[in-house]
Amino acid sequence: MLSTNRRQLLDVFRAAEGRLVSGQEIADALNCSRTAVWKHMEELKKVGFEIQAKRGSGYSIQPTDDGFTEEVLYFRAKTHFIGQHMSFHETVASTQLVAHQLVGEDAADGTVVIADEQKAGKGRLARPWDSQPGTGIWMSTILRPEIPMQQVPQFTFIASLAIAEAIENVTGLAPQIKWPNDLYINKRKVCGVLTEMQAEADQVRAIIIGTGINVNQTEFPEELREKATSLAILAGNPVSRGALFGEIVQQLEKYYQLFLEQGFAPIKLLWEERAIPFNETIVAKTLRGEVRGKVKGISDEGILIVQDAAGQEHSIFSADISLD
Ligand code: BTN
Repeated sequence: MLSTNRRQLLDVFRAAEGRLVSGQEIADALNCSRTAVWKHMEELKKVGFEIQAKRGSGYSIQPTDDGFTEEVLYFRAKTHFIGQHMSFHETVASTQLVAHQLVGEDAADGTVVIADEQKAGKGRLARPWDSQPGTGIWMSTILRPEIPMQQVPQFTFIASLAIAEAIENVTGLAPQIKWPNDLYINKRKVCGVLTEMQAEADQVRAIIIGTGINVNQTEFPEELREKATSLAILAGNPVSRGALFGEIVQQLEKYYQLFLEQGFAPIKLLWEERAIPFNETIVAKTLRGEVRGKVKGISDEGILIVQDAAGQEHSIFSADISLD
């Protein structure tokens, strides 16, 4: 966790929004001497910032493109609550597991658990999730909306929409969403979302949105080579994980608030604009067998509607989807 001093120092620069901050202003905010200010600024260089110092005017700070520290992520989270509390780990088994623990310890709405590496990252259907150090964004966001349990699946749509938009804003690449939770570019997966919840009786205690994004991998393990890709491979250059994180928390907060104010309808419309084109033929492998047909849309509960060749409509609650 960030020390109080570190947080105060970063808050001064966050509030300054890029303008120079005088040494005296910093000294006042941290209640320390001018010599101590200089030391604090030197420390920031070690945690992913470039410092500009103008004699007689003050300092400004800028995170480096590859800076991926708790300080950089806090600085980049220009939000009201998502990412304002963070649990940052160099290495962890799974951010999802930590998030579940934190819910039990009353973690605040919008708390983000994020790691540089996961040793036991998990995907949907209990599959492992490859999470090499320094390559991706592996994060779990805790949300505590007051909603009935049936609405929880809608959070997968809020998250995939927000992340797709964040990726596009940072890289210019336009991900398509494959129901319910995968982001694809050029027919390869770049991101997966795992939505879980904790509930008592019929009350939702918390929703945990696990997000795995392949950002800077240059190659993948054999079994993923044909299916997965990274933003860096597609963009042809490394992508700043810090900048992408900042954009994700902003978009997530925006769409979460839209949902709280206006419900699922506007999310559904925006999600459908990014969904793998409707009327495309897909194969849905469900527990009860295969359904082949054209995608007609999603219901208000987020259920996929597929129409088969005989014109019959099928409601798909959970399945592995592939393009025919
Ligand atoms: C999928 O199967 O497509 C969902 C993948 C979700 C992976 C993320 S990475 C961060 C969080 N921690 C985990 O262990 N899993 C999720």
